[in-house]
Amino acid sequence: MNKITAAITAVGSYVPDFVLSNQVLETLVDTNDEWITTRTGIKERRLLKEEGQGTSFMAIKAAQNLLEKANLDPKDIDLVIMATATPDMPVASTGVYVATQIGATNAFAFDLQAACSSFLYGMSAASAYIASGKYKKVLLIGSDKMSSIIDYTDRATCIIFGDGAGAVLFEPNTEGLGLQDEILKSDGIGREFLKIEAGGSILPASEETVKNKQHFVFQDGKTVFKYAVSGMADVSEKIMERNNLSHDDINWLVAHQANRRIIDATANRMGLDEAKVLINIQKYGNTTSATLPLLLSDFENQLKKGDNIIFAAFGGGFTWGAIYLKWAYTK
Ligand code: UT7
Repeated sequence: MNKITAAITAVGSYVPDFVLSNQVLETLVDTNDEWITTRTGIKERRLLKEEGQGTSFMAIKAAQNLLEKANLDPKDIDLVIMATATPDMPVASTGVYVATQIGATNAFAFDLQAACSSFLYGMSAASAYIASGKYKKVLLIGSDKMSSIIDYTDRATCIIFGDGAGAVLFEPNTEGLGLQDEILKSDGIGREFLKIEAGGSILPASEETVKNKQHFVFQDGKTVFKYAVSGMADVSEKIMERNNLSHDDINWLVAHQANRRIIDATANRMGLDEAKVLINIQKYGNTTSATLPLLLSDFENQLKKGDNIIFAAFGGGFTWGAIYLKWAYTK
């Protein structure tokens, strides 16, 4: 029997309607369109404004979009992995709620948190469940409502992040398509440079923590930038070498959309033409767990069966890695 690999067989997505442009940010903080565009590549981002709705709202919409496109009965799903850094609430798993809401009543579900690498790590987990032979349909969703943890008076972070969700379905493949190789890394040195100080078990919420704005994302952008550039480029280069892939062999780079300059640095190290680098950061900013599936969704019509794709991400923690995957279908 041929070896079982885990292939992506369907994609779905959702972004909220509300657009926050650089021009509007200029009215909120001391910044300007030119600075944001040249330093990050971002022009606008989407924000979820619906009262009382969180990450699950977007995750459900992205999953429903996938179910409809793939004409899939949710009862056939075995497992739902919810990649997110902004769960609806602590303790009660967002993924469990999402699975029930979409009708995946035969699935078990859990959340996976690895900051901006959550979806990449989720690809690894989904693939391992499929390769085990025990599970046939694994739904991986990346969804984040970053606007719920951003201080819109802090220009160092509010210009970067946006909200959104994407979903992919992993299924077994015996033609050699799907996930081929992965390099996943983490280093706790990163904890100081990108974090939310309060609201966890070390510093629970109090009047003081609210007053001190310790429930918002803090980022030492310069330091994270340096680690991200070298980390993402290193693993991407290594995964190419390890699989004897030259730049000609690679069809697409699907990289976490945190900063256009980080993506360009990775593509340069890999020797890739700009045309092979999927980019949508200008539209959505950094949507954390949703950047990779949003790219797949936006560019799905250009991907062809057999295409060699390198996925790469870098996030808080630090967490980072690269995955080599062969695309399994042509639209
Ligand atoms: O996705 C998870 C991982 N996260 C990342 O990968 C993000 C990594 N970091 C970055 O993308 C970049 O560091 C930022 C976009 C956050 C910042 O860009 P930078 O080129 O590293 O800027 P900087 O922090 O070094 O600041 C340069 C200057 C400073 O002014 P001085 O000290 O040179 O006078 C800042 O005060 O730009 C100033 N600045 C701004 N100016 C206008 C910082 N933020 C802004 C702003 N508008 N929004």
